Amino acid sequence: MIGLIDYGTDTQAELDELSFQADLSLQRLKPRLEQVWEQYSTSDERQKIFETRLREHWRPLFAQLHELYSGRYDFFYHLEQVLLTCALAFAQRSEDLCEIDRHRVIEPDWFQSENVVGGALYVDLFSDNLSRLREHVGYFKDLGLTYLHLMPLFAVRPGNNDGGYAISNYRTIAPSLGTVEDLKLLADDLREAGISLVLDFVFNHTSDDHEWAQRAQAGQREYQEFYYTFADRSVPEQYERNLREIFPTVRRGNFTWHDGMGRWVWTTFNSFQWDLNYSNPAVFRAMLDEMLFIANLGVDFLRLDAVAFIWKQMGTSCENLPQAHLVIRAFNRLVRLAAPALVFKSEAIVHPDEVVKYIDKNECQVSYNPTLMALLWESLATRRTDLLVRTLSRRFSLPDGTSWVNYLRCHDDIGWTFDDDDAASIGINAYDHRNFLNAFYSGQFEGSFARGVPFQHNHETGDMRISGTMASLAGLERAIEQEDEEGKELAIRRMMLLHGVTLSIGGIPLLYMGEEWGMLNDYSFTTDPAKAGDSRWIHRPRMKWEYLEELDDESGRDSIRRRIFRSLQSMIAIRKRTLAFAGQEMKLFPTGNHHLLGYVRSNEASNVVVVANFTEHAQVLDANRLRTAGLGRFFKNLLNDVEYGTAEPVLLQPYELLWLKRI
Ligand code: GLC
Ligand code: GLC
Repeated sequence: MIGLIDYGTDTQAELDELSFQADLSLQRLKPRLEQVWEQYSTSDERQKIFETRLREHWRPLFAQLHELYSGRYDFFYHLEQVLLTCALAFAQRSEDLCEIDRHRVIEPDWFQSENVVGGALYVDLFSDNLSRLREHVGYFKDLGLTYLHLMPLFAVRPGNNDGGYAISNYRTIAPSLGTVEDLKLLADDLREAGISLVLDFVFNHTSDDHEWAQRAQAGQREYQEFYYTFADRSVPEQYERNLREIFPTVRRGNFTWHDGMGRWVWTTFNSFQWDLNYSNPAVFRAMLDEMLFIANLGVDFLRLDAVAFIWKQMGTSCENLPQAHLVIRAFNRLVRLAAPALVFKSEAIVHPDEVVKYIDKNECQVSYNPTLMALLWESLATRRTDLLVRTLSRRFSLPDGTSWVNYLRCHDDIGWTFDDDDAASIGINAYDHRNFLNAFYSGQFEGSFARGVPFQHNHETGDMRISGTMASLAGLERAIEQEDEEGKELAIRRMMLLHGVTLSIGGIPLLYMGEEWGMLNDYSFTTDPAKAGDSRWIHRPRMKWEYLEELDDESGRDSIRRRIFRSLQSMIAIRKRTLAFAGQEMKLFPTGNHHLLGYVRSNEASNVVVVANFTEHAQVLDANRLRTAGLGRFFKNLLNDVEYGTAEPVLLQPYELLWLKRI
């Protein structure tokens, strides 16, 4: 049984011993399973399915839980509770969802299809509530989306709730958005329309008014152990020596004093977001229960929020620890047992070496690609693709059965998460370069087209991130304000260039809704005290439905909105009929020009050569290079049907993008 835990260096004898213990434990737990089947009148057929899945997943699951929790005096109790929680969720899963489970077990790579194109939105900002959102399913279809991420919509604390990321109850929807019933109806409508539903699993922390936190505050020790609480500063100070500060402008350090409880509590993010203690198996079990409840609502992808932070160990940075991976892998096995249609998506906005460690078919099958995101913006600022090319050549490929989620903007800030040595290898000083990028995108760099604002500037370390919508960062806001026609044109081209890369490079492209209209920064957040301290609200504007009217208004006015929407819509449609864009196979080719990015996408017998010009000047690609990369002499640009021969150099217009297919 090599690879039981996929981690560690256990010997064969140790693995045999673990397998023996796993099998015996399961045998002892069988009568408890029978009780679940009886309680829910589970059919024989269903029971058999669960048993078959147990044969595949029980031993690795046992090994993972054993590794994490066998030191606890009550390990077997928690093991039993975990299995029962899983069986209960399976017994309660609807027939429809079980049907999807069956398909996806046979076809686990379904999300690698060229057909998958995503969008993300806040329900309140887009359509006020869930039932109104149901009226807009046609809008998503029209744009070409097949994946919809709804930002956190569960019940939250009053006042500041970090955009929904401070959850007080994982089983109720925030009353202003609707009910669990509304969400289920929406999930049904989306499924009917061929759109996958994506929700967050905010599992690193709960809100300070979650029932568990309230019990902890009331002095119940069992619940204080759900979190990390400390009587005085001594232990926190020892931890603090190795910790980063994620929101340094909110609070210094990672701990918050709670007056009522009379204790310090670990709060990596805001002071009202209490980190859960996964070294306690009761927390693992309780959060499994919440997760499977969410799965059974009909969710297709679960975005695992802040994965890097879920395990703490004295003397370490408490980020990306091996046990964090084990917790996720154990959750993954449990999902394979109870709700195998569900795919995990990792949100690890950390060093690229750490990002990839979460990506595995036994851990998170898909992951945000923060490095590509940051480096596309980097290339726009510098007009050079060297760091992007260097990084992609070493860091794009992924294990089988997994996929990147490629995005340009999201609800969060942009952090410059490239590798310092990658930069050094091409003569870039990483520290200076980040300072330059921050200056460029906060509009402080002479000649910058961008209108972003700083986020979480740490004056001690100089560290800073950037907020701003895609259009404002790409130059549209400045150009509109200055009535600069050429500036507008270039801004639109920059946006389309970046979309053209994420739509073609390999993986799931993800739009942050509003991008389809080139929405600008919204400065009104400063008037709301619950938002004013967090500049990320600048890029979370309310949907402007009036734009939709401009779409059909062909009255000759050259509408920027219409142009952006129609171009993006058409690019999406082309992606969806291009087989070469499925899967992850991407090969860079040398363009011989520092301003160009060039790669070949292949899937089965289908190939497309992509070339992108990151400058506002025309650029030339040597014809031989295209011939060698594309193995042909004549090509057609799928985006506009223009044909290219390789007898002459290929000329790219400012910010032009080519999707070349051999003819
Ligand atoms: C994730 C979210 C971010 C939130 C943080 C704490 O990084 O994307 O918006 O502030 O987690 O939940
Ligand atoms: C931290 C987290 C990241 C999150 C961000 C929010 O960088 O690692 O997950 O998006 O904070 O600002």
